[in-house]
Amino acid sequence: MKYVIGVDLGTSAVKVLLFNQLGEVCAEASQAYPLIQEKSGYSEQNPEEWVDKTIRALSLLVKEFDGEIEAIEGISFSGQMHGLVLLDQNNDVLRNSILWNDVRTTKQCETIYELVGKDALLNIARNPALEGFTLPKLLWVKEHEPDIYKKAKTFLLPKDYLRFRLTGELHSEYSDAAGTLLLNVVKKEWSSEICNAVGVDMELCPPLVESHAFVGTITNEIAQQTGLSNSTKVFAGGADNACGAIGSGILSDGKTLCSIGTSGVVLSYEEDKERDLGGKVHYFNHGKENAFYTMGVTLAAGYSLSWFKDTFVAEEDFTAMLQGIEDVPIGANGLLFTPYLVGERTPHADALIRGSFIGVDGSHKRIDFVRAVIEGITFSLNESIEIFRESGKKIETVVSIGGGAKNDVWLQIQADIFNAKIQKLSSEQGPGIGAGILAAYGCGWFTSLNECADLFSRVVKTYEPIEENVVKYQELFALYKKVYQQTEEISQGLALFRK
Ligand code: XUL
Repeated sequence: MKYVIGVDLGTSAVKVLLFNQLGEVCAEASQAYPLIQEKSGYSEQNPEEWVDKTIRALSLLVKEFDGEIEAIEGISFSGQMHGLVLLDQNNDVLRNSILWNDVRTTKQCETIYELVGKDALLNIARNPALEGFTLPKLLWVKEHEPDIYKKAKTFLLPKDYLRFRLTGELHSEYSDAAGTLLLNVVKKEWSSEICNAVGVDMELCPPLVESHAFVGTITNEIAQQTGLSNSTKVFAGGADNACGAIGSGILSDGKTLCSIGTSGVVLSYEEDKERDLGGKVHYFNHGKENAFYTMGVTLAAGYSLSWFKDTFVAEEDFTAMLQGIEDVPIGANGLLFTPYLVGERTPHADALIRGSFIGVDGSHKRIDFVRAVIEGITFSLNESIEIFRESGKKIETVVSIGGGAKNDVWLQIQADIFNAKIQKLSSEQGPGIGAGILAAYGCGWFTSLNECADLFSRVVKTYEPIEENVVKYQELFALYKKVYQQTEEISQGLALFRK
């Protein structure tokens, strides 16, 4: 029997999964790391922490494995998107990585529009200038930390840096490069037009490969530190959302995914290179060759729930905190939550908006707040579904993965709010599975990603929307949507009082 490893470099932790050729998870390990939030709107991580924790997780995985170490044939990656890692001429890291959920770069987004032009940007990068993307971060460093910027020789995305440390080879791949705003998404090349317009030297951009591309073997040093063989083949990997899509079988037209991790996304497979949603949702290269996906993003989905837990219920685990949400009626006894804890992307690209609980009543218990948080996150994702439906897409079935797929009540809430069938898979760890699939496909175990995905994940349960609940949620959703409009100005005023 042969094996591959999928590494999911997330925002809260790195998770590693060991798969056999039957697509079964034989071992797994995880190591957490913190966010560095110096100021409101800032979000960073130390790339060394990713490397250390991945090595630790891999060595734990290897300890659990009792086969021949050479039987672990390949490894690939899924990574949090957009984070900027800057390297100097010796390939040493110049500063902490500025992450996807860092929204300090509103001014740089405006500069990008001025220099490139909105239409040109949408034509080439297929996306609007949003704070979370990589180019605005690069321009922020150029403006605020010129000495660091001058020393920069290469920029990388988080999992590309991790892979560099494992192999010594510098690369990026299309699915993650698409989230930089520097890629010509359809032509699959770094855009000289954008680079020249914003004054970014194209030399900073690493060579591009496909997600399943073989890029080298792991170094002797990493082999020693992890216990893996130095013949382990390394494959490029993909953005976490592309990998989530691969791991959930979102590999043909008409398939939709809801993935709730730290962020929450609704993602739809797209083969049409010309499809134009006017920048309302993101349009990125898939991890499957020459395919694409469109996607709406809620910045603080799982993060809203973990923030609530850490702030108010630190002594309990998630299962205990969620105990009893099924007994709270739809609408959390008149309590609405908007999950704008770090600003928002879809449908409101707004770095200043912040979250709210509306309708707080003296009779509310903690559990009402928990239910309101879950419903609020799901309403936010439903705004993305609404955009897709308004554009003419039929969304009747949604595959659900991530933290939101671990809880039966939440899965039913998704069915009722999305008014769609929700499919739960054999594992909710889509991005890690997608990384494993890329490694398995890269190793030549299968002739297509689709064939591999069919084996690695399957539907185990379907949740049908309940008509009576759908109607109630439609009423609540209309109220939910008003909260943004009516708190926008208040949030802007309060921004002056944030640290
Ligand atoms: C997508 C995005 C997030 C991160 C989370 O555009 O910013 O989903 O990829 O890891």
